[in-house]
Amino acid sequence: MIYVKKNIIHLNTDKTSYIMEIFKGKYLLHLYYGEKTQINHGYEYEDFNSFSPNPDKDDITYSLDTLPQEVSFGQIGDFRSPSVEIEFKDGSKVTNFLYDSYKIYEGKPSNEHLPTSHIGPNESVETIEIKLVDSLKALELYLYYTVFESKDTIAVSKKIVNLGSEEIYLDNLASLSMDFHEFAYDYIHFPGSWVRERDFERCSVTRGTHVVDSKRGSSSHNQNPAMIILDKKADEFSGHVYGFNLIYSGSFKNQIETSSYNQMRFSMGINPYNFRKKVASNSNFHSPEAIVMFSSGGINGLSSISHSFVNDNIIPSNFRNAHRPILINNWEATYFDFNEEKILEIAKASKEFETELFVLDDGWFGIRNSDKSGLGDWFVNKEKLPSGIENIGKKINDLGINFGIWVEPEMVSPDSDLYRKHPDWCFHVDGRNRTEARNQLLLNLSLPEVCDYLYDSLEKIFSTEGISYVKWDYNRNMTEIYSKNIPADMQGEVGFNYYKGLYGLLDRLVTRFPNILFESCSGGGGRFDLGMLKYMPQTWTSDNTDALARLNIQYSTSIFYPVVAMGSHISDVPNHQTGRSVPLKFRADVAMSGNLGLELDSTKIDEKSKVEIKEYLDFYKENREIIQNGAFYRIRSPYDGNITSWMFKGRGEKEGEVLVFIFRGYKKANMPKHRIKIPYLDDESLYLDKDKKCMYSGSELRNYGITIDHSSGDFQSEIIKLKEQ
Ligand code: DGJ
Repeated sequence: MIYVKKNIIHLNTDKTSYIMEIFKGKYLLHLYYGEKTQINHGYEYEDFNSFSPNPDKDDITYSLDTLPQEVSFGQIGDFRSPSVEIEFKDGSKVTNFLYDSYKIYEGKPSNEHLPTSHIGPNESVETIEIKLVDSLKALELYLYYTVFESKDTIAVSKKIVNLGSEEIYLDNLASLSMDFHEFAYDYIHFPGSWVRERDFERCSVTRGTHVVDSKRGSSSHNQNPAMIILDKKADEFSGHVYGFNLIYSGSFKNQIETSSYNQMRFSMGINPYNFRKKVASNSNFHSPEAIVMFSSGGINGLSSISHSFVNDNIIPSNFRNAHRPILINNWEATYFDFNEEKILEIAKASKEFETELFVLDDGWFGIRNSDKSGLGDWFVNKEKLPSGIENIGKKINDLGINFGIWVEPEMVSPDSDLYRKHPDWCFHVDGRNRTEARNQLLLNLSLPEVCDYLYDSLEKIFSTEGISYVKWDYNRNMTEIYSKNIPADMQGEVGFNYYKGLYGLLDRLVTRFPNILFESCSGGGGRFDLGMLKYMPQTWTSDNTDALARLNIQYSTSIFYPVVAMGSHISDVPNHQTGRSVPLKFRADVAMSGNLGLELDSTKIDEKSKVEIKEYLDFYKENREIIQNGAFYRIRSPYDGNITSWMFKGRGEKEGEVLVFIFRGYKKANMPKHRIKIPYLDDESLYLDKDKKCMYSGSELRNYGITIDHSSGDFQSEIIKLKEQ
């Protein structure tokens, strides 16, 4: 619910309030965000020093330098980082946007170029649109806040409208800026790299500026836009936790900045590095949408909010709560070295454990026997697959297995027909080196003709009968971001226009193929973000399939992203990335903690393992509803020691059914017994562990816990199934 009382604006969700003040009828202040409350008093201010300038000659009691602001501008007295930066044609950079008016309406604003959250089933939302005006330059600035009441989530964005007669240059427009009154907080971010995505790092906010960003042209393996600010005492189970995420897949910047007055400013948006948007007269620029969440129930509480928001308000609605198939992918089984016979053998052998979908990975098109050639040539390689995709698909479908295919459309290999025909279609600057990564270049998706070529080629492939799944890969970061079809003063928008092109292309494809399940991938989890999830309901979490490493990656990923969105596969041992050998059960239990699949050569599995795999797949199918659509909570972190644990609670028909996963890494000699306490159950209820023939009360499980079974050997795991009686 949104209401404005006197000059105070309240945005209320079921459990939270976001409160602003229209200060002196001119400035928009940020008063509060947190547990639900009502504030009747405006900001109490006093200004004291000549180094904090006063914007109002007639009232020198306040300064923008110290006010907690909702949106901020440079050069008018606030010396913290501004959320809006504009350069005018005369080179001046001073803006002065003052509060003008507000409007409250049902529904959400649209953003014609970028993905945004949608209204979920049986949900209604309200938006407040606050208008600020820079009258000298005839600029309007709109701040949008959409309140998802039952989700404890607010979607925030900004739009600049240029009604002046001259173009302006927008150098920065943070989607979100939030001033806190103090900085006694911690923050959590997710640094990493390829095959080491999303480490969990908790830091103290100290004086100065803390930047979490990507300049790689994608959200990247190296950071993630999702970020937490939390009370010092907050942990997984309790305490105040703020969560922020961005619906954008390009370079982003999150910043925490403290002021000399112990305030803290958090901002999030497109990275101003390498960004400059020319906004012509009578046109506008709308920022990506930021998602703001708050929980007083610890990090798990925040995850519940984020998971349900992603499922209901981000991913395509037709995949919401839809069971995801157990797939087998041939990548680690064959890499590029396969032919039709081999593919069919793998599919046939996987029939024994009743996989549901076969995914033909890289190497089926153009001339592609290694990563040195072929990207861009989206026609089947008849040498490898003489009877074509349609016949392979049909033969696999005849086995009772669905069929899916891998593509990497945004790229081109210099050794490809496409590149020979259109050497100008990739990002480059004439006369300079075209920097390759994995021997490939990036197509310039800001060019409509490139997107049209991709649409036509992909439309043909995806129309092949029997294709029900597509893995969409992206295996490098951006360099030489330049497009010679536009003038010099527009080059700063090329990286952004790339994403406009990509999102437009994806929109056309998912609309044309609503029944195809798309899985996003960027060398694993290099674009695990809300922008991609908007079109593709799941992401290949990491190219690292080592189960021990995956515990960490999946743990951190689950903080913002639902486990149903995380592809997690059982792979072969020794593991291809780490060389480690982990027992099959441990590998299966880790993979079953997400969206299960297989990534191995099913023709080379011994009889005993085949039986085991079939059992795991059967177990997963039986419990898929609980795992994919249930509530997920982390119990013990792999970052804290040798034991990791998480749990799933069924919903709807599966209400009362609970799965607790426990993993132990290395075996130590003469280890003491460990206990795990199982939270989030009903204290008064009784829970039966049928396998152990044991009955526990909810309070016993929560307070006293259960003993972990320490069988010998490294990498042991167990799944405890409890049923409320
Ligand atoms: C990177 C992906 O993450 C892998 O799973 C595989 O699809 C390869 N690309 C294929 O080139």
